[in-house]
Amino acid sequence: MALKFEVLGKFNRARAARLSLPHFVCQTPLFMPVGTQGTIKGLTNNQLEEIGCQIILGNTYHLALRPGAELIDDLGGLHKFMNWKRALLTDSGGFQMVSLLHLADITEQGVTFQSPVDAKPMLLTPEESIQIQNKIGADIIMALDDVVKTTITGPRIEEAMYRTLRWIDRCIVAHKRPDEQNLFGIVQGGLDPVLRDICVRGLVDRNLPGYAIGGLSGGEDKDSFWRVVAQCTAALPEDKPRYVMGVGYPLDLVVCSALGADMYDCVYPTRTARFGTALIPEGLLKLKNQAMANDEHPIDPTCLCMVCRNYTRAYLHCIVTKDPMGSQLVSYHNLSYMMRLSKDLHTSIVEGRFPEFVQGFLRVQFPKGD
Ligand code: GUN
Ligand code: ZN
Repeated sequence: MALKFEVLGKFNRARAARLSLPHFVCQTPLFMPVGTQGTIKGLTNNQLEEIGCQIILGNTYHLALRPGAELIDDLGGLHKFMNWKRALLTDSGGFQMVSLLHLADITEQGVTFQSPVDAKPMLLTPEESIQIQNKIGADIIMALDDVVKTTITGPRIEEAMYRTLRWIDRCIVAHKRPDEQNLFGIVQGGLDPVLRDICVRGLVDRNLPGYAIGGLSGGEDKDSFWRVVAQCTAALPEDKPRYVMGVGYPLDLVVCSALGADMYDCVYPTRTARFGTALIPEGLLKLKNQAMANDEHPIDPTCLCMVCRNYTRAYLHCIVTKDPMGSQLVSYHNLSYMMRLSKDLHTSIVEGRFPEFVQGFLRVQFPKGD
């Protein structure tokens, strides 16, 4: 195992921990910005460090296509290639192929897809996904899983869950760098508590360094989503990190952390920035709205980030979808907001005032109690 997970504070099920990875010592709960091609769109590494980013996520699928795992390996791994000194996590690739390419086909062997480069059929097996991730060299690597949308019902959910369990064994055998990289298993099973339970037990039996809860944020209602998270966190070991994949919205971070989750990733803060939307304690600020045109306030007067210290809403309104700088500045603020939220969750748990923090967060976001 190449990590240490020390719980520093708890409040009911919520925990604040120190997660020591080969390249960085992180504080949880934590949010990981998503960088597909080895870059977080619009931010430099220095800016990411400046806003307190501890770990970023890369996608095996994108990196394997360009620049390619061999090249990254030859150039000394992804940390060196992109000159990122802190922690990295790579997702296994299957999810991206299934969500991005409608032509992906899943069999027992692996995920078959049409190469976007030359349209040739290609196969990503659990073994290959791990080989590629071993070459990329991230601190945390993810097992190849069979992901189905939570809105699907029927035998496909069960098939995908059992296949995910069979594939984890192939991933474990293929993993050649367990002393430098941590392989996380992913709990699948849709919205079915029986299937989720079988999957959690199966993965816990493999004694992995950490566990993810997958197959969520695919269109299910919040109630079902939180139910699955609550069930999985209750059944996962206390002394290992728990990562909810593809989540999320600020409210999801607060609720899932209350349920005992530790790690999150989502493209939302940077994607929504490119459409001119800023994250603020009250919810969302649509910078394109005409009301912003002469607003001299910063995005969020309570935010101390570089953007809020230097630019008005009026200025950002003017450039946000017109010039790349506009979306870069809003991305910078949105990620700062997520980093501050993660840090506030951590500190409030350590200092024994988590309920007050959550109440304050909800009161500002839902002032009328709705
Ligand atoms: N990203 C968001 N959800 C998932 C999931 O269920 N599996 C994987 N591998 N990546 C994800
Ligand atoms: Zn700001």
